[in-house]
Amino acid sequence: MDIVTIFVKVTETGQEQELNTRVNKARAIGEITAGLAKPLTQETEAVFLKGPVRAFVALMRRGAGNACTEKKYERKGIMELSGNTILITGGTSGIGLELATQLSKRKNTILVTGRDPHKLRELQQALPNVHTYQSDVSDPAAIVSLYQRVTNDFPDLNVLINNAGVMRMLSLNGGHGLQDICREIEINLLGPVRMVEQFLPFLKTKRHAAIINTSSGLAFLPLPSAPIYCATKAALHSYTQSLRVQLHNTPIKVFELAPPPTSTPLMEHFGSDSFNSQSPGVMSVEKMVRAALLGLGKDTYEIRPGTSNVLKVMSRVAPTLMLRQLSRPVAKELAKAQLTGVQQEAKR
Ligand SMILES: NC(=O)c1ccc[n+]([C@@H]2O[C@H](COP(=O)([O-])OP(=O)(O)OC[C@H]3O[C@@H](n4cnc5c(N)ncnc54)[C@H](OP(=O)(O)O)[C@@H]3O)[C@@H](O)[C@H]2O)c1
Repeated sequence: MDIVTIFVKVTETGQEQELNTRVNKARAIGEITAGLAKPLTQETEAVFLKGPVRAFVALMRRGAGNACTEKKYERKGIMELSGNTILITGGTSGIGLELATQLSKRKNTILVTGRDPHKLRELQQALPNVHTYQSDVSDPAAIVSLYQRVTNDFPDLNVLINNAGVMRMLSLNGGHGLQDICREIEINLLGPVRMVEQFLPFLKTKRHAAIINTSSGLAFLPLPSAPIYCATKAALHSYTQSLRVQLHNTPIKVFELAPPPTSTPLMEHFGSDSFNSQSPGVMSVEKMVRAALLGLGKDTYEIRPGTSNVLKVMSRVAPTLMLRQLSRPVAKELAKAQLTGVQQEAKR
């Protein structure tokens, strides 16, 4: 069987990115060729296959991108990255903590939430100028109380970053119970939806405001060993597109940050063999957050660092092929998850 590796060339960075996937060449060419018939985003310049026999498929730049990035819905004026008062949910670890660190260095006032009081205390010691609030985004009453405390303490609040999230490897073959199976939906999807519902009228009163929702590269293609997580991120992506359209006549800019695999405690806890801090394509959290801030500073409304951009492009060009690749480790990973207990309620 002729095996090839897929490369994708992305115009935004001008770099070729390896997709880290080795596929059957005949199938890949078939699907990518069929994919060419579909409209492509403007960031796609070329998709090509490399292997024992190199095949090259050049894609002409076509179309003006998807509706969410159309100029029509883009707010005028570049996002200022200093002088803001920023609330970050889930800011005690990983991406949220790094956002807090890098944004506080840029002279912003930073407020951070999390559930674990121990982690909040540690953060307070490490970054004394960051303000902490214990709050659970999956609890509507906690969101109301957070809103009252934060807007009372910091009436200049103008940026909300919905970042809190959990990820689980999960078998869909029953045994979780009706509460537990929905934990990621409560945190990753209903959390941001409820936070926006609660804070939106307040943010609308500001001259410049922004909402940044943290989705994932897995919003564009599912990793079947984390089925509910991926569904929440796809839904958050869709919700964010609609929110951007609905708010385009307000002072609020709506961004989506879709991180690629990033080296954080979430990834370590997820415990996948094919998706861990040693895997190729995994970004350091510092680099990912630098890319995020670069995107915000350029008013890039859908920020897709590294392999997230590749996943988006390939989800349009060769979706079946990509799903097949992401499905390969599912049986092995779920068996491992059952042994290690990763399917249980997310650790606090
Ligand atoms: N790391 C990756 O590879 C990756 C890739 C794509 C997208 N993302 C997304 O990026 C975001 C941050 O992930 P991360 O990798 O930085 O994870 P992390 O290191 O595990 O941090 C998650 C943060 O969220 C908080 N949190 C979890 N559940 C919460 C809840 N119910 N209410 C309030 N806070 C809560 C955690 O603190 P407590 O536990 O104390 O509450 C922690 O501060 C998530 O939305 C994740 O889905 C991550």
